[in-house]
Amino acid sequence: MTKPIYIINGPNLNLLGTREPEIYGSETLKDIENICTQTANAAGYDVKFMQSNHEGQIIDWLHEARTNAIAIILNAGALTHTSVGLYDALKAIDILKIEVHLSNPHAREEFRHKSFISPVSNGVIAGFGIDSYILAINGIVKKLT
Ligand code: DQA
Repeated sequence: MTKPIYIINGPNLNLLGTREPEIYGSETLKDIENICTQTANAAGYDVKFMQSNHEGQIIDWLHEARTNAIAIILNAGALTHTSVGLYDALKAIDILKIEVHLSNPHAREEFRHKSFISPVSNGVIAGFGIDSYILAINGIVKKLT
């Protein structure tokens, strides 16, 4: 059986739907999970969809992904801008890694302009709302098939 695409979501993304909807939209994380699963399944891929508010948990999932995933989509939330731990974990992974954001961090506060994820990712998709995830899945599918 083909390995799943790991879709890993970081801090505060469990609050989507009610958290700053003018920036992040009105869809919940469950809505994103559903559309990601549908999109990936239609292309013949499975998805493992996860969210944690804890950096160590996300690092553990990234380690798991090294052997168990076919590709990774990571929205690290605020950890994007702070985490050397995520940088090191991603650097140790050889499969396709795509950084995604609902908003465009470069059009927001200056502290969001720095990403520890971008230098160790194969691609970055930001600013398309929920479609950032879909574009990442389509990009992965195109690269893998
Ligand atoms: C985010 C952007 C980050 O700057 C922010 O801390 C988030 C969400 C996004 O998806 O737009 O939590 O990753």
